[in-house]
Amino acid sequence: MKAMIVGGGAREHAIAKKLAEDAELYAFMSNVNPGIVELCKDHMIGKETEVDAVAGYATKMGIDIAFIGPEAPLGAGVVDALEEAGVPAVGPKAGAARLEISKSFMRDLMAEYEVPGAIRYGVFSDTNAAAAFITELNGRVAVKPVGLTGGKGVKVWGDHFQNSAGAIHYAKEVIDTCIGGSRSVVIEECLTGEEFTLQAFVDGKNVIPMPLVQDHKRAYEGDRGPNTGGMGSYSMPDGILPFVPQEDVDKAVEIMRKTVEAMAESGNEYKGILYGQFMETVDGPKVIEFNVRFGDPEAMNVLPLLEDSLLEISWQIVEGRLEPAKFRPKATVVKYVVPKGYGTDPLEGSPLKVDTPETTDLMLFYASVNAGNGFVLTTRSRSLGILGIADRIQDAEKHAEAGLSGIDGEFFARHDIGTMEAIQRKIDHMARVRKGLE
Ligand code: AMP
Ligand code: GLY
Repeated sequence: MKAMIVGGGAREHAIAKKLAEDAELYAFMSNVNPGIVELCKDHMIGKETEVDAVAGYATKMGIDIAFIGPEAPLGAGVVDALEEAGVPAVGPKAGAARLEISKSFMRDLMAEYEVPGAIRYGVFSDTNAAAAFITELNGRVAVKPVGLTGGKGVKVWGDHFQNSAGAIHYAKEVIDTCIGGSRSVVIEECLTGEEFTLQAFVDGKNVIPMPLVQDHKRAYEGDRGPNTGGMGSYSMPDGILPFVPQEDVDKAVEIMRKTVEAMAESGNEYKGILYGQFMETVDGPKVIEFNVRFGDPEAMNVLPLLEDSLLEISWQIVEGRLEPAKFRPKATVVKYVVPKGYGTDPLEGSPLKVDTPETTDLMLFYASVNAGNGFVLTTRSRSLGILGIADRIQDAEKHAEAGLSGIDGEFFARHDIGTMEAIQRKIDHMARVRKGLE
């Protein structure tokens, strides 16, 4: 059986490792990911959004099934192109990928189909109307460009502005300068609580949840500094997080089910991986965003725990016959190695020597690096994901730290991720939120 991975980051390395257990692997990616190359029979370097090139390579290689890692090719219609070429693919078609690609599509869908977990929002192309809505919400809003901005276009009350005037100023800038590619802006009520990630396999109707994960978007320890693609993440042996009661996990799964149902009803059948970014609030889980793919780093937490074959699950997804999946009851901690200056001005082309032996407790995933001779070279993006696995979170964190100590060069990582102190801070924060103190 020939399987192809599209994408060349650490998320795709994690997917590739699982697929390679049962399939002959091929890859189409924009960078030479040394980890993926090692697992592949053949690979092609090219632009992942050039969907005809991706489909052409798949046909040429006689690929039986494709797995799409990143959102950009999904938004560009890579699944449509592959299916037209007779290659089944794990991921939504372009129409359904709008769930991530367009923030207004997602909010409008949730409102129209009365999906629970929705929040107050408005989509505006008129500055005065946006200003009136912001004022009505006392400036406690999130201001979001409609299209993709790589996580950098979203500005939130308390972080980026402190009052209505600041929010109105940014909303005007988004509209006037077409940030995110369209002359409109989404304004949402600002949520307070703790964020968590729930990923699920979806086959059009069945939603099979994976363990919860918490990512850390801020560049620096103590959740300070600029927002990034994610500096690391952890999951607990029971598959939930200490500040999210089981009842709210069930609610979050139900929100994902209702969303998948709404997608089907609106003529945008959803197949692939669905990623829900939730805020746990005093009123239960609320949707911050949906992604139409695995999370990065979150894929590294859950995939190594998956007991079933990812290849078999991929077939279940494309054939609409998903069954429950089993995950090992272990704790995981991922710490990302990132280039010096990452988050502001990353140091490109800096060599990293990787001397981390992989064990059953410690795995290494290459991200956006270029292969060198005995070392890898950093790019402007994240470099390596280090995963620790153990029965207890304390030990998983220690394994990840041991992995970090085998990397030599100019880099940084967040040593606080997955520590008991950091997790306790989240628990305490959620307790204050529940008491109405934040
Ligand atoms: P997004 O690109 O939509 O995931 O937003 C980036 C980050 O902004 C999220 O991970 C949250 O931390 C924050 N954020 C987005 N929307 C909201 C909201 N409505 N309330 C509070 N924080 C938000
Ligand atoms: N970890 C955030 C993302 O994958 O979008």
